[in-house]
Amino acid sequence: MRSITFNQDHLLLSYRHSYHAGNFADVLKHIVVIEILGYLTRKDSPFDYFDSHAGAGLYDLGAEHATRLQEYTEGIGKLNAKDWPELAGYFSILKQYNPGSDLHYYPGSPLIAMQYLRKRDRAWLFEMHPTDHDLLQRNIAADPRVRVMHEDGYPGLLALLPPLSRRGLILLDPSYEIKTDYKQVFETVNLACKKFATATYAVWYPVVERKRIDQLVSKFRNSGIKKIQRYELSVTADSRGRGMSGAGMIVVNPPWPLLEKMSRLLPRLVKALGQDEGAGFKSEVLVGE
Ligand SMILES: C[S@@+](CC[C@H](N)C(=O)[O-])C[C@H]1O[C@@H](n2cnc3c(N)ncnc32)[C@H](O)[C@@H]1O
Repeated sequence: MRSITFNQDHLLLSYRHSYHAGNFADVLKHIVVIEILGYLTRKDSPFDYFDSHAGAGLYDLGAEHATRLQEYTEGIGKLNAKDWPELAGYFSILKQYNPGSDLHYYPGSPLIAMQYLRKRDRAWLFEMHPTDHDLLQRNIAADPRVRVMHEDGYPGLLALLPPLSRRGLILLDPSYEIKTDYKQVFETVNLACKKFATATYAVWYPVVERKRIDQLVSKFRNSGIKKIQRYELSVTADSRGRGMSGAGMIVVNPPWPLLEKMSRLLPRLVKALGQDEGAGFKSEVLVGE
């Protein structure tokens, strides 16, 4: 699963999100994405959604990939809709893909975002893995509001900014299996902010080596970009490179209710999803107005 293969001039990882769909990191990421999309739809004016690392769009939790690691059982599998009225939007999307009482499918960020697109909104999805690109294309079907691109999402995204709508959410969700992702994700947001300063940017990160996250966070703090917040959920204590102990979202230009909502949710998520006494959260302003 972690081997590296070469395909023409692209360095392609064999990372497949299907092994991890619905884990605690997806739960945190998709809660934040849904809060931002919900806020964008409060105004009638159109918006654009960009997903630089879109994945396959929908994951079968009974398929061999998902059952091998069973990560969803430590994530979405531990949450019951009735206990989380404040996450009604998230659970109603899950219900659409799981009409019965059991959880069989987990929607990824593109299909979640599609639930919020109105007729005049647009989505731009980048996915480089050939199989996941084809699956994404199939899962989106022919929707005139959405473009699925088999391209590198970093330059691809920059080439599209700013969109005509001048409003939007940009999700950057690399797997970080290639270590240059840490550098590239920051540099891309830094450049993108110069082209499209009013967008909300959401950058997902895994806590595998705390030092790398501290470096990423300090780049954002020192970038000159204003209005940056960070939300992090750790299910165990930091483990010095032995697997993912936590995951976080760095959000530029967050909607104003996000900090309060996440500050209320995160302690409860720690209780529900924490795996040892080292579990914890961060909900903080990295850079103010
Ligand atoms: C963490 S997964 C995405 C999950 C998805 N955003 C979600 O929340 O459902 C990262 C995806 O990025 C793809 N990928 C890796 N490098 C990429 C690049 N430079 N441009 C576009 N896609 C890339 C991988 O194939 C993988 O499917």
